[in-house]
Amino acid sequence: MTVRFNSHLTSIPGYSPGVPKGHSAEDVASSNLAQLASNESPFAPLPEVVEAITRAAKAMNRYPDPAATRLRQRLADRHEIEPGQVSVANGSCEFLLAAAEALLEPGAEIVYAWPSFSMYPNMAAMTGAREIRVPLKEDQTHDLEAMLAEITAATQIVIVCNPNNPTGTYIPFAEIADFVERVPDHVQIILDEAYIEFQVYDDPANSIDLLKRHPNLVLLRTFSKTHSLAGLRVGYALGSPAFKAAVEAVRQPFSVNALAQAAAVEALEHGDVIQRQIETQIAERVRVESGVADLGLRATDSQANFSWISLGDNGAEIEDAVVGSLAEAEIVVRAGKLLGGPGWLRVSYGTPEENDRFVAALGEAIKAHG
Ligand SMILES: Cc1ncc(COP(=O)(O)O)c(C=O)c1O
Repeated sequence: MTVRFNSHLTSIPGYSPGVPKGHSAEDVASSNLAQLASNESPFAPLPEVVEAITRAAKAMNRYPDPAATRLRQRLADRHEIEPGQVSVANGSCEFLLAAAEALLEPGAEIVYAWPSFSMYPNMAAMTGAREIRVPLKEDQTHDLEAMLAEITAATQIVIVCNPNNPTGTYIPFAEIADFVERVPDHVQIILDEAYIEFQVYDDPANSIDLLKRHPNLVLLRTFSKTHSLAGLRVGYALGSPAFKAAVEAVRQPFSVNALAQAAAVEALEHGDVIQRQIETQIAERVRVESGVADLGLRATDSQANFSWISLGDNGAEIEDAVVGSLAEAEIVVRAGKLLGGPGWLRVSYGTPEENDRFVAALGEAIKAHG
């Protein structure tokens, strides 16, 4: 007899990391590799944040504050809501898995768009719930009407990723507000806003306002993309105390470690610098998009820190070769076929120098294989 694992395990797709196997973050930092596959910030953490981590390291013999009291209070102040509506987690991914455990079971349904964030398929797979993937529209945006039409009495979760990963597309706030209004109260709406700070259409505070009227809404945000803390793993959820309690019931008590809590508290003190970094990335987006257009390639209207680029009519055939050529030039991007979009590439914005290298190498790859 061998050990028999949970029957759901075989259907969990898992997560394939962007960093080549065997490379640590330090290896990447000290190499010529342009790591443009994980939508991270190209900026190192601020010196004050590194100092806060160093200070906190001296007390590592103690467990962290399980309630992350200071961090939750700072987030509550910043977003002008009650600390009881703020939960923190080991990256916003942890909320997705915890929400699955807390809300899904065989017979329940979860609705989300596709292609979208690669963790969503794990949620149904790990719980035995039924997933309904609603294809994106022709312009690669969410089809909110079609998603609404899929909601039934069995629906427990609906997820909207805005801006959407991997397509970068954004749904204006007014449409989100209308959607949230029309979703029945028994459905937990997860608005995954991992990239919300990179969009230029609406005030990111708008969706927080929706929480007042919709206790079935939760917003997921993260320190990974804008605050240069992907390696420490801190995400937060803004929503009802009931959602917070449910997440806490299904996960371990100390999921956000003390270094991560200290770093995030400090990072929140430097909003102006972070905002300038965001603006730099938005300017890089414009440069990359125009470089890609000059190559004769089409990209979506990205409102995130990455571009989603079509490789053309024969994109699906040349995708592997193009990704291979970029890898030879020490540039790591994501092949669309791994993200639900064969024939497309997802490239995160790096430093200006890395972005120039990417556009030049993409041009060479298209010349060779296109
Ligand atoms: C849409 C989306 N949600 C959530 C996450 C997870 O972020 P975190 O690092 O906070 O777990 C990502 C990371 O790539 C993402 O793209």
